[in-house]
Order: sequence, then structure tokens, then C-alpha cells
Amino acid sequence: MIEFNSVSKSYQIAGNTVPVLRDISFTIEDGEFVSIMGPSGSGKSTLMHIMGCLDVPTSGRVSLFGTDIAGMSRDELAHARNRQIGFVFQNFHLIGRMTALRNVELPLVYAGWRRGRRSERARSLLTQVGLEHRMDHYPNELSGGQKQRVAIARALANQPSLILADEPTGALDTATGQEIMELFGRLNSQGVTIVVVTHDAAVASYASRTIYVRDGKVVDTL
Ligand SMILES: Nc1ncnc2c1ncn2[C@@H]1O[C@H](COP(=O)(O)OP(=O)(O)O)[C@@H](O)[C@H]1O
Ligand SMILES: [Mg+2]
Repeated sequence: MIEFNSVSKSYQIAGNTVPVLRDISFTIEDGEFVSIMGPSGSGKSTLMHIMGCLDVPTSGRVSLFGTDIAGMSRDELAHARNRQIGFVFQNFHLIGRMTALRNVELPLVYAGWRRGRRSERARSLLTQVGLEHRMDHYPNELSGGQKQRVAIARALANQPSLILADEPTGALDTATGQEIMELFGRLNSQGVTIVVVTHDAAVASYASRTIYVRDGKVVDTL
């Protein structure tokens, strides 16, 4: 599903080349639940942005869903990003002036779904993440864990085959973080491939495999 082959990424800062990812190679198979672990600044978010077609490598080859992304047009990349991948972030990225239901409907609005059908789908997704009683609440009326559940329901809206979550429990207390990881586990058992980035070993342990990153290099895979 995801294959990195000698991927490197560097940034130009004040005339200097700063390497962030160095010669990274790994494969994530369809249906896996993988965590990517490493200390702050090790390049985890950069890695995830490249996996999600939000950024491109400086060198090396990335293939996603069986296609080399270098050969994909901008439209094809946007399509993969919007329809095949669901993103979940540390700080939820919900829209504050929209209810939980509207937040979950939003990707379906962009995908051109009619109101009745998209409302029905959003309700069913919110029920799936245990928020059937909070659909009409605004984000500031929800706890952190509830906000993350809304964000996960939104990420699932277009039935992605892959969920990329960057520090999804980073803003939550331990018990709530565990509930969120259990939810990812449940989604994985329903067939969704899950990649969770974290710097927390307890969070990483929910995955069936962990890729360890340090200073922009993969140092271990367990
Ligand atoms: N857009 C950017 N421009 C320059 N440097 C960046 C940029 N994005 C990330 N970096 C640098 O790359 C390194 C890795 O960042 P990041 O991928 O966010 O790490 P992590 O998510 O593991 O904390 C850091 O040193 C960071 O400062
Ligand atoms: Mg990060």
C-alpha cells in the first residue's frame, strides 16, 4: 500500500541544506496497523506528510496504492489525498462554527454529495465513533476525546482505505488516548490501514508493528 525506497528530504534554510529524512525505506501492507515512533524533531511529521501526498521527497521513490507518486498528476495526487486517505491531527482541526455533524459532512460536501445522503452518512459515522448523542454540539462543547472522535468520523467520510494520524493522542489524557487507540484498532479490524505517528511507546504499542525513526533515519522495525 505504501512503499518508500531510499527517500530523503531536505530543506534549504538560509542557503544551507538541512537534511530531515535520510535514505528511508520501508513498506506498509494493505490492512496493517503501524505506528511510527521517534523523538520530537526526528522527522515523523515530514514522513507522514510525504505518505499523505502533502509534501514531496527531495530524492527517492514513493509508491502509494501501487502507483509511483512521481508519475501522478496534480489532480491524481489531490484525488488520492481527498478520497483515499483520511487525516487525523493532534489538535483535531475541526471548524469551530460548525456542529459535529457539519464537520463530518464537510468532505462529503466537497465530494458533491446531496444534503440528505451526506447527513445520513455523517450520522452513521458519528454513531460508529460513539457520538450519537453529540451530533449537534459545537467543538467547544465537546471534550478533547470527543473532538478527536469527530475528527476520526470526518476522516472516514469518503471511505478511505488509509488513515494517517499524526500524534492523535498528543492533546489527550492517557485514558482518553487509550480509547482513541482502541477506536483505531477497531477500524483496523474492519479493514482500514492505519498509520499512527507518536513519540509515546504506550500509544505505539496498540499497533501491530512499529517503525522507529531517529534523526531522520529508520533505526529499527519491530
Ligand atoms: N518546512 C520546513 N522548513 C524547514 N525545516 C523544517 C520544515 N519542516 C520541518 N522542518 C525540520 O525538520 C525536522 C523534523 O521535523 P518534523 O518532521 O516536524 O519532526 P517530528 O514530527 O518528528 O517532531 C525538524 O528539525 C524541523 O525543524
Ligand atoms: Mg510532528
